[in-house]
Formats: sequence, C-alpha cells, structure tokens
Amino acid sequence: MHRSHTNGELRIENNGQEVTLAGWVQKTRDKGFMIWVDLRDRYGITQLIFDEDRTDKAVIEKAKTLGREFVIQVKGTVIERQSKNNKIPTGEIEILVTSLEILNAALVPPFTIEDETDGGEELRMKYRYLDIRRNPVKESLIFRHKVSQEVRNFLSNEDFIEVETPYLIKSTPEGARDFVVPSRMNEGQFYALPQSPQTFKQLLMVGGMDKYFQIVKCFRDEDLRADRQPEFTQIDCEMAFVEQEDILTIFEGLTRHLLKKVNNVEIGDFPRMTFDHAMKTYGNDKPDIRFGMEFGELNDVVKHRNFKIFDEAELVVGIAVPGGASYTRKEIDKLVDWVRRPQVGALGMVYVKCNEDGTYKSSVDKFYDQEDLAKWAEKTGAKPGDLICVLSGITNKVRAQLSALRMELAERLNLRKPNEFAPLWVIDFPLLELDEETGHYHAMHHPFTSPKPGQMELLDTDPGAVKANAYDLVLNGNEIGGGSIRIHDKATQAVMLKHLGFSEEDAKAQFGFLMDAFEYGAPPHGGLAFGLDRLVAILAGKETIRDFIAFPKNNSGRDVMIDAPANLDDAQLSELNLQLNITKA
Ligand code: AMO
Repeated sequence: MHRSHTNGELRIENNGQEVTLAGWVQKTRDKGFMIWVDLRDRYGITQLIFDEDRTDKAVIEKAKTLGREFVIQVKGTVIERQSKNNKIPTGEIEILVTSLEILNAALVPPFTIEDETDGGEELRMKYRYLDIRRNPVKESLIFRHKVSQEVRNFLSNEDFIEVETPYLIKSTPEGARDFVVPSRMNEGQFYALPQSPQTFKQLLMVGGMDKYFQIVKCFRDEDLRADRQPEFTQIDCEMAFVEQEDILTIFEGLTRHLLKKVNNVEIGDFPRMTFDHAMKTYGNDKPDIRFGMEFGELNDVVKHRNFKIFDEAELVVGIAVPGGASYTRKEIDKLVDWVRRPQVGALGMVYVKCNEDGTYKSSVDKFYDQEDLAKWAEKTGAKPGDLICVLSGITNKVRAQLSALRMELAERLNLRKPNEFAPLWVIDFPLLELDEETGHYHAMHHPFTSPKPGQMELLDTDPGAVKANAYDLVLNGNEIGGGSIRIHDKATQAVMLKHLGFSEEDAKAQFGFLMDAFEYGAPPHGGLAFGLDRLVAILAGKETIRDFIAFPKNNSGRDVMIDAPANLDDAQLSELNLQLNITKA
C-alpha cells in the first residue's frame, strides 16, 4: 500500500493516527534542527515535520536531500500543529515522520509549480504534465469532468443513447478543411477525419436509434483562435420525430441543468431572437445580451444635411456608451484609432457627447443642429452623460465594425461579468450564405439543413432570402452550439446539393450513401451539437478553451510537448505510396 490517506484528507480528528502518505514535494523549509516539507497530490497539501528530537537521524539526513517535485512516501503520526494554517483544510495537523522513502528523484522543474507561475505559455505547453500539477490547470480539468458527467446524466435520463461513430471516414463538410489520413491498403486513397459526426448521426436516426448523443472529438483544419482548436470536443446529439421546438426544449433543459449543477445558477428567461434581429440590433449572430448598448439605426435622421459620408452610406448606425460623455478628446481619438485598425476596418467614427445639461457636442456640429442630435440620442437610447459612437458604410461591414466596438467597450467598462449567464437562442438563420470571393452560395450551417416550410421555391429566385430550420445557442456572446432540422428525403437533398454547386455525379459520389439511406424509410429528424470546450470555458467564466484541454495545440497547430506534426521517414512514406514534393529543410 503506497498510502493510507490522500494529502487533502487528514484533520484534527485524526490526531494520533499512524498514516502513510505519498506525493510530490511542493517545498521544504530546513531550520537545521527541524525540517518541514509540504507534500502535495491532487487532493491537497499536508505538512510533514522532521524533528531532530523525535525523528531518526538517518531519516533527517535523507530529508535534507529532498528537492522540489521529488516523489516520496512517508510513514508517521498525525499531530496537532503548533501554528495552525487556516488557509488549507489540513492546516490544523502535521505528520511527524518516522520513515521516508524517495520513490523518484526529480530535476528542478523549468517553472514554479505554484498557482501563479513564472513559466511562459510555450514553456508550460512543452512541459504540460508539470503544468497539470498546478491548481488552476488541475481544477480546470476536474471542472471539465464535472460538466461532461452532468451532460451524460442529463441526456441519459432523457433516454439518449451514447453511440460511438468512426473517425476514419469520408469528408463531412462543416465549412473547414479536412485533416486526411492516407490508407496503406487502398493505394492512393485517403480517409478524412470527421469535422463532426453529422452524417453518421443522421444514419443512426434512419437506423431507428431515436435519441443519440456522443461526447466526441472533431477535427477541423482552420485558423486557430482563443475559442478554436484543430481537434475539439462536441456534445453531439440527434433526435427522430421532432420539430425545432422539441430540440430547443431539450437543450434548454440541458443548459439549465448544467448551470444549476455546475454553477448553482437558476436561469429565468431563456430568450429567442431571430438572426435578422440579432444582426440589426447587435451586428452579430451571437450577441452578448448581458448589457444593452443596442444599435440605433440613424439613416432616417442623418440624411440630407450635406454630410457627404452619411448621405452616401448604405447604413449609418450608432451605440450609446454609458458615461462616455466624460471621455477626453485624447480618449476619443484613441477610440477612433481603435476602429480604424485593420482588424476592425472602419474608415472613421463620428461621435456625440450627450452633456449632463441636455445639450449635445458632436464631431459633426457643422452639419447637424441640437434638434438633429436629440434624434440620434433617441434612436440609440443615449442618456445625458453618454457618448454616441456612429459608424457608416456598407451594411454588413458597418454592423461587424460597430459590433466589434460594442464588445471592446463592454470589456473596458466591465460590463461582461464572468459570473453572470445570459443564454440566448438565435433562430431563423439564412439557409445559404454568399461567399464574397467566389460569388457562390454555400450552406450557412451545413448542406443537410432543411429550409423553412414553403421556402424551397425561393431557392431559384432569391437564394439569399431562404430561411433555414437552423438555430444556435449563444452564451455570453459565444456560440456554444448549433443545429438544425434536417432534410430527410432524397429529392430535397438532391435539389439542395445542386444549389450548392454539386454536379449530380459529385453529389452521388460524396453523399450517395446518405441519399440512398433516405430511400429506406428515414424519419423526420434534427439535432444539434454543443462545443464542449467552449461550454466548459464559459461556465468557468473564461473564453480561452486551451486552458480546459489537457494537451492542447499551440497557435500554429503544433503539440510542442510531443513535437507533432512530424516528418515521416522514407520507408513509411513508400509504404503509404506517398511521395513528397517538398524539399525537407
Ligand atoms: P457546428 O459546426 O456549428 O455544428 O459546431 C458545433 C459547435 O462546435 C463548436 N466548435 C468548435 N469548438 C472549438 N474549436 C473549433 N475549431 C470548433 N468548431 C466548432 C462550436 C459550435 O457551435 N454537425 C453540426 C451540428 C448539427 O447540425 O447538429 C456542427 O458541427 O461551439
């Protein structure tokens, strides 16, 4: 037996007990006649004491050789501490050590294994196993486990069955590039790793599983951001014989369950908003509704005053910044610079200070009088003391720019409270999205999403106007999940693929298996997938998913710990019938 107790377990009630403990040396304090060691494991820290008067000399000598992160086993007696530490649960006791065994020595770690460490991000990723010993990382992984467990509890209670689907498959388009795996046995052919189990879960519905879920890895070769990893985890779900309402109800239930169990938060209202409304009011299809600053469109009140920029703009739109009237000229100039950064892309910003005395001072006083500006204030909901920020230009672009400004200001004004949760369904997404570069439409969600009833005809005349039976779950301004009611008949799926630019042959080659299955009695079905990494991060009040993944990739998609991806040797390449066209560096 390596240990009788963990290092988080012993209390004053255990006083006098003989115990065996094991763990890592967090730190040692050597006062010559006495040595204290903090012994750490996943469960906590217990203080060990080696005392010249009461401990064997050989044991003391051995204790003097201990370094940080040595793995040791000790036997001893639980005693009451002289000076108690009320910051840790074991702080009233210590272990008077009678024997010490060094199970494994350790090199000095490259960064301190403390809550606040001196290690930079790359270094900590290289030695991730050491980083995991630190409380914040350890707690994040335990937190993730708790969320996953509650997901399984809830869905199992609702009669969902967890089914595993394959990883070596054929491309399932979710809008990213595929990671591919060469097949040795099928020369020149490749598997794709799933961007999601989308087609398989639909086939499970044809197979009569009725309610499916899976906590599953998905792989997408796309640019990485704080909320994106090339491999990530979905809570993937599908249900047969359902309409949108049934799905929203179940997953609203799951979200409530998680917030209750994990955060002890009861959600009152669970609002819904159409995509069009979200874009018009927040410039964004995943609005953070924890704070106001809603868009006020100003076209009606800014035109025909000889201000050319606004006269020529497709959309003029503003937001009221609470308390912003007190900003100095310099602070406002900085905001203007911020919106002009290439990442935001606005050409400039017009502003109006709403003074406490009810008057207005704007950057365009030459063109607009007090009466005009009062209308702007009304449209944006600005009160005395606020600042109105106004952008103008092409509708889609200007909405995105003002949305970025709204989020930035909310961040600066501390309006995005991590412990406040505001879920939101965004519904009625467009079915198709125009790719501005190619001029082609592609599926906004994925090609298996059904249009709203009666909208198929519009596909020919006004494809951009067709709405889908598709919905996203947004939590605190982050897209947590998305799904749709699917097409479940071959003819509709074929029309849909044709509109997405697939020739009949391509459609058959890529999705023939699904369309064939639809001919053997496919029930109406639909579902959704939550991004588990994102969900966990947001429930924990954070937005960087990397912290909640045991072994994440860095921004270039590399695992710097195991050093992957890596080259293949020539023998392996030739076994796979692959020839590289690049000269190795
Ligand atoms: P979608 O593509 O919207 O839908 O993905 C579902 C959710 O997965 C999360 N997500 C990611 N998380 C981390 N890193 C990534 N690279 C990443 N990409 C997506 C998001 C997203 O909302 N098959 C459909 C679901 C369905 O229709 O049922 C799908 O995959 O939180």
